[in-house]
Amino acid sequence: MITPLLNWLRHRSAVRELIGAMLLEGVPGGARWRYVWGSCLVFVFSLQLITGIMLMTAYSPSSSQAWNSVHAIQYKMDFGWLIRGLHHFGSQTMMVLIALHMLQVVIAGAHLPPRELNWWLGVGLLSLTLGLSLTGYLLPWDQKGYWATRVATNIAGTLPEIGGEVRQQAVGGPDYGNYTLTRFYALHVAILPLGMILLMIAHIYIFRRHGVTCKENQEGLVTNPDNEHSAGAEPFWPRQAFYDMLACMAVFGVMLGLVLYGFAHKIETPPREDGAEPGLYEQLARMGTQGKGAELDAAADRDTANYPARPEWYFLALFQLLKYFKGEYAIIGTVVIPNGAMLLLALLPLLGFGPLRKFGHFASILVLITLLVLTGLLTLQALDDDQPDGILWGIMKKNDEEAVKTAKKFQESVKEAEEKAKRACQLAMDGTPVEGGEYLMRNDPFTRGRELFQQKCGSCHNFTKQDKDLFDKSWTGGKTASDLGDFGRASWIRGLLENPMSDKYFGLIKVVERDADDKEVKDDKGKPNIVHGLTGMRGWRKGVDKRRDAKKIDAKIQDKDFDTIAEWLEYQAKTPKAERRNDKLIDAGQEAFTSDKNKCSTCHMIEARVKNDAGKFVWEKQGDVTAPDLTDWGSAAYIRGMIMNPAHKSRYADRNLMPAFRNIDGLGAEVLAEEFRDTHEKVRAKTFLPLTDIEREMIIRWITRDYRPIYGGAPIR
Ligand code: HEC
Ligand code: HEC
Repeated sequence: MITPLLNWLRHRSAVRELIGAMLLEGVPGGARWRYVWGSCLVFVFSLQLITGIMLMTAYSPSSSQAWNSVHAIQYKMDFGWLIRGLHHFGSQTMMVLIALHMLQVVIAGAHLPPRELNWWLGVGLLSLTLGLSLTGYLLPWDQKGYWATRVATNIAGTLPEIGGEVRQQAVGGPDYGNYTLTRFYALHVAILPLGMILLMIAHIYIFRRHGVTCKENQEGLVTNPDNEHSAGAEPFWPRQAFYDMLACMAVFGVMLGLVLYGFAHKIETPPREDGAEPGLYEQLARMGTQGKGAELDAAADRDTANYPARPEWYFLALFQLLKYFKGEYAIIGTVVIPNGAMLLLALLPLLGFGPLRKFGHFASILVLITLLVLTGLLTLQALDDDQPDGILWGIMKKNDEEAVKTAKKFQESVKEAEEKAKRACQLAMDGTPVEGGEYLMRNDPFTRGRELFQQKCGSCHNFTKQDKDLFDKSWTGGKTASDLGDFGRASWIRGLLENPMSDKYFGLIKVVERDADDKEVKDDKGKPNIVHGLTGMRGWRKGVDKRRDAKKIDAKIQDKDFDTIAEWLEYQAKTPKAERRNDKLIDAGQEAFTSDKNKCSTCHMIEARVKNDAGKFVWEKQGDVTAPDLTDWGSAAYIRGMIMNPAHKSRYADRNLMPAFRNIDGLGAEVLAEEFRDTHEKVRAKTFLPLTDIEREMIIRWITRDYRPIYGGAPIR
């Protein structure tokens, strides 16, 4: 069956000659293991072409969708993690293989005449590979690639004379964004690969002309097409072909190992709706969610402050170089040295003419090894600079305190960035905003809400991490107000009732004492007298203690009441009115709150559930308003009121010391603004600060642990 078909093909085409030309080429001196690097490079490049084209079918090159599509490839597409992983590590593998290949070539002297032209083609291929890496790094449009590439294009901008123009061309528009991505995409998938293929064909064609370099074939005379089987030459097939194949498979094994080791963020996947365990195929196809494959950072966001930007490892040496040349000397690091090194490489073969050849060969080896060692040292130094304790088990230790501090800070921001990346990848499993991946994080209460809390509220309030919280650390920057870490929970109320003047509650809130004429009271030294600013609950506590003694109220029984009140207030905070069904708790809470023993309602107002004449449940305000109205205390609505108008009579009225936070100069800012300012003039804290509606809601969700992102027009409840 096969043979007639083959014969037909042979008759009508030159397959036979082609295969012959490919496999029967002579290898002078016989097959050797060290000739495998070139074949490995061709193999990995072909793999890059295949995986690259596969990725092209799912990737969307726009700044709003690129990250979303890469996220889908990594986590949602069947075997997307594998294809992307291979492509990612393929590029790194190529860098390593190129170094090995060059080393082998120079050691063999294969760059010397008459093979110098091919050496130059090789140097060209090296530049193109670097170009492909650089352009590819940007394509996922994640923070890592975005900031690294920004650094790279800015470096290009420092070139003398032409710098501005080069940068402009690379950026592709007025600012770094969608058009930059378009440019880089075109370079990465069309221009550079095409150049690579052409150069590679030329490289291999010219290589064939002279054959491998060995003792028997220094001058490249043994293999020309006419004397393929001349003395000492062994055909490529089967031995060398076999070596090459084994080496390619080993390289592929390493790549696959890296992909399977996994550098991506793990994702928590909810159980399937039908409750079934995923089958073997599904498990394998979605191994990206278990962290297999290449890393994906959070979506690029130009508004990020201080992203810890670092280039890919093979550009680290260059990055390090830039640190040594500052200001007007920067050009030495950006242009002179890197281009000098490339030029030096290109000039190496010229040392190989005539009697110079022996010396040239030796000098070339020396130059290449020196270059590699220097690059290695610079890379190590770059890595070391970022580690507070140094690298290589402390061999490279830092003595400079400033350097340790910088490294520590860097590591902290790396950790933070990683936390965000994990969060972004997880959030995007539920869908991504059409406006762009960055909105995922911009409107995420878990990360952005926390930042906003620290910026806007954190100078006064603390925030202690609670048991099941997913974040890392408590916020301890607050100096002048309560700890809101468990605000809205029973524990907060219970603690308040126990010791209202502790630092966790009103203890840190201090003011200058004023007399009846509103004049500052001075102490002996003429300094203003500082006193507690909010003492309403202290008075209550003293009363409790007194009554306990005088009336012999059983402390244990009253403590039980406090437990009930705390539990009931938390229940109100977490359950919307219409959903409150725990009649027992509601009755007990209301009872304790209004009881003569505890007297909360002599100062506080609350909406209680009572039966009306018709025997139906209705909500009715009870109590007094000399203290905050505790209706729905701890809920989002309560906190919203506290943020927007803390001096309102249902909150802290004229005792208020907290600034109001409002949308001062945006849409809707003028609504009730006059009235608001008017009332605010009369309170102790006369300030109010700008805060947009979305920012406010993110802070509220952060405090109430409601981590749903706010985007896509979902109503704010
Ligand atoms: C300048 C200091 C300051 C800042 C900034 C501040 N607060 Fe307050 N906050 C206070 C003080 C003081 C109180 C006590 C009540 C009062 O004075 O109105 C308070 C009370 C509260 C309360 C009621 C619970 C309690 O401890 O009595 C909440 C909730 C609250 N703040 C939330 C916030 C949020 C959210 C922000 C950030 C948007 C914020 N605060 C910013 C000082 C501040
Ligand atoms: C003598 C009046 C008085 C009594 C009685 C009283 N409180 Fe208060 N309470 C206040 C005042 C006043 C404040 C606000 C702090 C200030 O202005 O000094 C306050 C604050 C609070 C707050 C913080 C509100 C917020 O914004 O988070 C809670 C909660 C609270 N009280 C609960 C209670 C409970 C529960 C009882 C009964 C066991 C009670 N209080 C009894 C006067 C009182």
